[in-house]
Amino acid sequence: MSEDFVKIVDTKDIQPSQMKEVQFDGEDVCITNVDGKYYAIGNICTHEGGPLADGILEGYEVECPWHQSKFDVRTGKVTNPPASESEPTYEIKVDGNSILAKKRPNIKE
Ligand code: FES
Repeated sequence: MSEDFVKIVDTKDIQPSQMKEVQFDGEDVCITNVDGKYYAIGNICTHEGGPLADGILEGYEVECPWHQSKFDVRTGKVTNPPASESEPTYEIKVDGNSILAKKRPNIKE
C-alpha cells in the first residue's frame, strides 16, 4: 500500500506558513505547510492558470498572485472568486524527513 506514495520533497524545504511548487505525477502541485501539517493541491489556478505557490498563504488559504482567487489548501475549494472550480487535492504523508504524495486515481472530473 505504501508503494503508492512517492517522495516529492524534504520537510525542511517547506517551513511553516510556506509553500512550494513541485512536479508530481505529471502535474504541478503546490505543497503548503500550515502549522507543521502539510497539504497539497494543484498549483495551476483554475481561473486562468496563475501559479499558486507564488501567491500568498494565509492560514489555510492560498491566494493566487494573478487575480486574488483563494483556495482552501485542505479541500482545494474556492473561498474567493474569480475562480469557480476547485483545485485537485493530493494525499500527503510525512515519513521521517520526507514528504510523500499519493498518486491520484485516473478519474475524469
Ligand atoms: S489566474 Fe488565479 S485568480 Fe486568475
